[in-house]
Amino acid sequence: MLLIGFVIASLFPLALAATANQWRGRSIYQVIVDRYALPVGADPNGCPPGSRTWCGGTWDTIRENLDYIQNAGFTALWISPVSQNYEGPSTPYGDAYHGYWIADASQLNHRFGTSDDLKALSDELHRRGMYLMVDVVVNDVMSTSTNPDLSTYMFKDKSQYHPYCTIDWSNTTSEERCWLGDTVIPLADINTEDPTVVSAFGNWIQSLVAEYNIDGLRIDAAKHVNIDFWPTFCGKAGVFCIGEVFGSDINEAAEYQGPNSLDSILHYPMYNALVEAFTIPGPQNMSAVSDMIAQSKTKFKDPGLLGNFIENQDIPRWRNLSVDPQSLYNAMVFNFMSDGIPIVYYGQEQGFNGNADPYNREALWTSGYANSTTYQLISTLNQFRNFLVNTTGWVNSEMQVLATTKYGISILKGNVVSIMTNIGSPPQNVSVPVYTPFESSTATTNILTCEQWAVGSNGTVDAQYSLGGVPVVLIPSALLEGSGLCGYNAPAGFSKHTSAASTLQLSVFYYVVFLSSCLGVFKCML
Ligand SMILES: *[C@@H]1O[C@H](CO)[C@@H](O)[C@H](O)[C@H]1NC(C)=O
Ligand SMILES: *[C@@H]1O[C@H](CO)[C@@H](O)[C@H](O)[C@H]1NC(C)=O
Ligand SMILES: *[C@@H]1O[C@H](CO)[C@@H](O)[C@H](O)[C@H]1NC(C)=O
Ligand SMILES: *[C@@H]1O[C@H](CO)[C@@H](O)[C@H](O)[C@H]1NC(C)=O
Ligand SMILES: *[C@@H]1O[C@H](CO)[C@@H](O)[C@H](O)[C@H]1NC(C)=O
Ligand SMILES: *[C@@H]1O[C@H](CO)[C@@H](O)[C@H](O)[C@H]1NC(C)=O
Ligand SMILES: *[C@@H]1O[C@H](CO)[C@@H](O)[C@H](O)[C@H]1NC(C)=O
Repeated sequence: MLLIGFVIASLFPLALAATANQWRGRSIYQVIVDRYALPVGADPNGCPPGSRTWCGGTWDTIRENLDYIQNAGFTALWISPVSQNYEGPSTPYGDAYHGYWIADASQLNHRFGTSDDLKALSDELHRRGMYLMVDVVVNDVMSTSTNPDLSTYMFKDKSQYHPYCTIDWSNTTSEERCWLGDTVIPLADINTEDPTVVSAFGNWIQSLVAEYNIDGLRIDAAKHVNIDFWPTFCGKAGVFCIGEVFGSDINEAAEYQGPNSLDSILHYPMYNALVEAFTIPGPQNMSAVSDMIAQSKTKFKDPGLLGNFIENQDIPRWRNLSVDPQSLYNAMVFNFMSDGIPIVYYGQEQGFNGNADPYNREALWTSGYANSTTYQLISTLNQFRNFLVNTTGWVNSEMQVLATTKYGISILKGNVVSIMTNIGSPPQNVSVPVYTPFESSTATTNILTCEQWAVGSNGTVDAQYSLGGVPVVLIPSALLEGSGLCGYNAPAGFSKHTSAASTLQLSVFYYVVFLSSCLGVFKCML
């Protein structure tokens, strides 16, 4: 009976919520639902981000256009909030197209589709072997006055809100209890200490996760909620929780990861270090990254679960800070090949260059979903990382810094040596020498170019930039077998354009492998 149960579970791996450990090896693509894809026939020219209004994307249009995300190798999708938003007249800050202006959290936002549409998106992601992450906002609700009419919200009693006050950013209690926003759009702060709020939010998230088969939550404004709210809330959700803790202070950030808070947070301190090290113009200070790696190892409970990013809906696009494309490529290679879960914000792969909100929320369709240089780089990095995750212990190994110089940094994770530089595109007569743990004469491959690199005496490799500051990712060539990269065989049973049919084949393949190994064990036991 147990055996049959196992076989059935392995044939239908769809409906299981995912734990933190299952997310460790995933790679996340982040979208703002309104801006990812248009319905067929809609006007593609009507979405200047400065107009801050709805452009027409829905859960359905995402579902219809998942190939673009899956073909780039992503194994998870993070979508902007699904809860009902403010629907009143347009405000001085525009409309609630982004989804973060919550009205009644317990209702779905009908602007983006029906309950069935959201279920269909979830089902389609799972059919493709991908996870669904939903953004949730529990800190606040949107309002147009400091004395809002509470009857339109999930919580209708005055005691379920903190009284209006402006945040004193030097006082943690004030950050938790006072109101985000300003006097034009105050975000009424929900009293997340109140037991009726804790209980109702717990029941809500439990049923939301169950109804839509959600695999993980991204939590907005996590540091603006009393920290002891999180274990209860995420316990009820029963899935991976990654929180937004905005700011460069690593000591503050680190408090939000662990059993007394969240599984993970978005690694803002590392984002700030990457900006300091890689943007051109910028201080180009590589020590900021090596220093942050060292601090992360000592301060965070589990650096391998942190969210690595260089763009999102709240910060300027990388290309707005740094016009040199190589600075983007090098910083992105760091996010994929270091400890942590890589996250790419839609449009990053298309070289979008908007500044902060609202200019960083461009319509993706204006790019024509091109197979751009950055899209191809991401596809290669995802294919390589997915291969390492699936076939080796790479994701559980801890990164080591091999070298930090004025011009670059090199890290080792598992059997992979990555060398990132901050010099940018113009060639320079400089190099980053690295002592690797590889034996001298080992044949290695740079998976980004497929060039062979031989390891010198004492394990040295020397990244020279006489052709410009390109990133380098080296692995002993013998270990590429089965990766599908650089002419090596593709993974068995794996096809890039996974259709429902090939997913079924894959399940059958695993079923056969499972059954034969299982029978083998039985034979051994008999
Ligand atoms: C911190 O903020 C809270 C909430 O506004 C307030 O009650 C408290 O007096 C403040 N503490 C200090 C030291 O200012
Ligand atoms: C570079 O970063 C390191 C580590 O954060 C810091 O100690 C140092 O002062 C920075 N150097 C410059 C020139 O900013
Ligand atoms: C930064 O963004 C603003 C607004 O979107 C734009 O006007 C400006 O040209 C951008 N700068 C760069 C360097 O891309
Ligand atoms: C993008 O272009 C590369 C290089 O020509 C090609 O190998 C890859 O298959 C293309 N990807 C897609 C999704 O078309
Ligand atoms: C890795 O494993 C996952 C889950 O079993 C599967 O969906 C995916 O196709 C595999 N990817 C590669 C590149 O082997
Ligand atoms: C590059 O630098 C090295 C050492 O600093 C020097 O010997 C060499 O002549 C330089 N090459 C060029 C092309 O400038
Ligand atoms: C050999 O490599 C180690 C680091 O792996 C380094 O400390 C040492 O100086 C190197 N020796 C020589 C002779 O280059």
